[in-house]
Amino acid sequence: MDQAVLHILGIETSCDETAAAVVRRDSAGRGEILSNRVLSQTREHAPYGGVVPEIAARAHIAHLDRLVAEAMAESGLGFRELDGVAATAGPGLLGGLLVGLTMAKAIALAQGKPLLAINHLEGHALTARLLQPVAFPYLLLLVSGGHTQFQIVEGVGRYHRLGSTIDDALGEAFDKVAKLLGLGYPGGPQVEARARAGNPQRFAFPRPLKGRKDCNFSFSGLKTAVREAVMSLGEPSDQDIADVCASFEAAVAETLADRLARAVQLFRAAHPGTASPALIVAGGVAANQRLKAVVADVAATHGFTLIVPPPRLCTDNAAMIAWAGAERLHLGLTDDLGAAARARWPLDQTQAPVYGAGKLGAKA
Ligand code: KG4
Ligand code: ZN
Repeated sequence: MDQAVLHILGIETSCDETAAAVVRRDSAGRGEILSNRVLSQTREHAPYGGVVPEIAARAHIAHLDRLVAEAMAESGLGFRELDGVAATAGPGLLGGLLVGLTMAKAIALAQGKPLLAINHLEGHALTARLLQPVAFPYLLLLVSGGHTQFQIVEGVGRYHRLGSTIDDALGEAFDKVAKLLGLGYPGGPQVEARARAGNPQRFAFPRPLKGRKDCNFSFSGLKTAVREAVMSLGEPSDQDIADVCASFEAAVAETLADRLARAVQLFRAAHPGTASPALIVAGGVAANQRLKAVVADVAATHGFTLIVPPPRLCTDNAAMIAWAGAERLHLGLTDDLGAAARARWPLDQTQAPVYGAGKLGAKA
């Protein structure tokens, strides 16, 4: 598609963030965010310790109209000036996906614009290119509440999964540990804060899959070990809680360092000619300072250039969906109005699915 500048409206409703954004892609492929509205439903779901699909879908219906209107107003563009409308079509919670995708179809139909039905994971995978020029191929580590995986990003729509969790996602493991300790939801930030005052050596938690030749993750055994430790404590003191959090974080950090070192080797083997490849980290868990330090260390040791987008673009947002739409539209990869919402939709469709990885309806 030989369009000089593209303006795309993006809509994200796959889990518990209702989001709308407008981005511009210039003729040189540079991105700019014109507006980026995110409404988090965390408070609605907090009493339940996790995302409730029905509550999420209803909240998307209640707020999406307004967020799209706000994103358009802030961008200074009218619908007629858009070049395409992008929405997350999966993976995620079906009810929410249908709300966003249907709205995008309605706008596309009414305005005669192309529809871009976006894989949410592709949104995460391409975000770095919205912010700065990043050449393909690069290595992606996605660590969120619903996904934990390594992908080689070979191009738009071209992914090769190197490894993933075989059970819980890493953010989910943080959330479950927080729940066990009565720390509230979402748990990651609370576990990190408590860990600062703790002794990481007090509990010898397992380092799952460490040393394996692949670069998969597993967190359910670690979670069970934490549960047993917490139960043995009876009524844990503040220091006990801090020590459990620190010991858990230490186990995760050591595991992540090992799995990442393996992934960079596999990347090197697949692309020996790439001089200083980028390592992109996305997902809410990337906010964890301890884990960020581990990732930076492995990247430096192996000659990778680490790029961690700022938190508001690392976590779920619509700018990444609009940007993935812009990248796809530039290549002429549009979708028809019959595009379906999909609860499951792996990025790399050539690889066999990892059963147990990424729960149905879990956050992506
Ligand atoms: O990417 P995200 O905002 O939402 C999706 O899952 O799509 O990630 C949320 C996850 C939650 O599981 C949360 O507990 C975790 O990221 N998280 C953290 C931290 N901040 C958020 N985990 C560990 N340390 C943190 N500081
Ligand atoms: Zn996500």
